[in-house]
Amino acid sequence: MDQIVIRGGRPLSGEITASGAKNAALPVMASVLLGDGDYELSNIPRVVDIHTMAELLRRLGVGAQWADNRLILSVRGIERCEAAYELVKTMRASIMVLGPLVARWGQARVSLPGGCAIGARPVNLHLMGLRKMGAEITIAHGYIEAKASRLHGATIALDQPTVTGTENLMMAATLAQGTTVLDNAACEPEVVDLATFLNQRGARISGAGSRRITIEGVDRLSGGLHRYTIISDRIEAGTYLIAGAITRGRLAVRGCRPEQLEAVMGKLEAAGVVLRKEAGRVMVEGPPRPTAVDAATAPYPGFPTDMQAQFMALMAVAKGQSLISELVFEQRLTHVAELQRMGAQIQVQGVHAKVQGVEQLSGAPVMASDLRASAGLVLAGLVADGESRIQRVYHLDRGYERMVEKLQAVGAAIERVSGERARVGRQPEAGAGP
Ligand code: EPZ
Repeated sequence: MDQIVIRGGRPLSGEITASGAKNAALPVMASVLLGDGDYELSNIPRVVDIHTMAELLRRLGVGAQWADNRLILSVRGIERCEAAYELVKTMRASIMVLGPLVARWGQARVSLPGGCAIGARPVNLHLMGLRKMGAEITIAHGYIEAKASRLHGATIALDQPTVTGTENLMMAATLAQGTTVLDNAACEPEVVDLATFLNQRGARISGAGSRRITIEGVDRLSGGLHRYTIISDRIEAGTYLIAGAITRGRLAVRGCRPEQLEAVMGKLEAAGVVLRKEAGRVMVEGPPRPTAVDAATAPYPGFPTDMQAQFMALMAVAKGQSLISELVFEQRLTHVAELQRMGAQIQVQGVHAKVQGVEQLSGAPVMASDLRASAGLVLAGLVADGESRIQRVYHLDRGYERMVEKLQAVGAAIERVSGERARVGRQPEAGAGP
């Protein structure tokens, strides 16, 4: 199995570009099920989760073709309404075909996603909302079975501003009879990107980006050819801001939109990181040593849970003690034990981690447990003394496009090694090619 091998201690410099946003592309792809037509989607990251969604759509009868980072999806009716366990178990976001299928085709059979490394992650709010719109939903043999002749508008108050729940219900409401109001909705930029795409196709969505979204149902969305460019990935951009900061480097992150990363950039500046907004990019300059700052994760516009592990890596080498609280997912501190293997001083109490910064981390073999945890370990490896070996990098492949190549291009001594070479442990050279 592949490993990522890093020799730490090199300041990064130059420019690195964030790819398109995985978490915007996934719902936009699922939404093509709402109507026949051709969809030319640009700035789509070539990561595993995107390939999984494309495969899921293919199995439903959607044509899918790649042309560089453009994905062309063609819908001419669908062949079946089932999302199989085999695919859904590899990617929970598959649940987002449920709303479009039942809204457009009147039925859906979608595997329940099951457990996840970062928390229970139930989908009760997705189902509650669809039931409120008149869907008949049963759960049997691990599958959600949903039926509806036509959904109707409803007022839905969400206990939690669930991101994919908001997206699923917004898509379903697009074709419902009447008006739907989503209260306590998620207002992540990815939700706004989906609403913009749907409105371009004739939907009537207002309020996306706020806690109250109103959707006036229409009979159908317009067909034909739709071109759309996905927003850049704010989490990937945030990860690279920290890469520049933690290596005491001087890095420009292209595609980083400050207005989407205010909470993260605020914490970085409080930690002594210099950030300068420039046209289409943000310059980051890492301080000799960052200062400890507390952070607690929250739904957007709060501090993103998808940046928690990366920020913890920075706090592990900060001056002083910080408290990092994971308040969105109940089990998203599994990276702590791996950071401790690298010499980090971290105490966990429930969902809180007290991080006593150390002068220097030391390279070590570590294990990735989920997508963002693996990004946090890569960042720790970039600053650690000596060599780090990150195993289970398939987690990283799910959401970071060409991370190793991008970091090599700005001076990191990082390499991906596979099979035998992973076993014998060859040293990577600075900027070494694959
Ligand atoms: C989205 O997941 C993202 N995934 C996640 O990114 C991200 O961590 C998360 O939002 C929070 O920002 C995609 O967009 C594909 P939620 P989602 O529903 O929608 C509870 C990454 O690294 N909840 O907003 O699944 C839930 O348990 C991934 O790219 C219910 O209780 O997250 C959690 O505690 C990981 N019932 C909270 O809400 C429900 O029906 C927020 O989860 C739904 C959610």
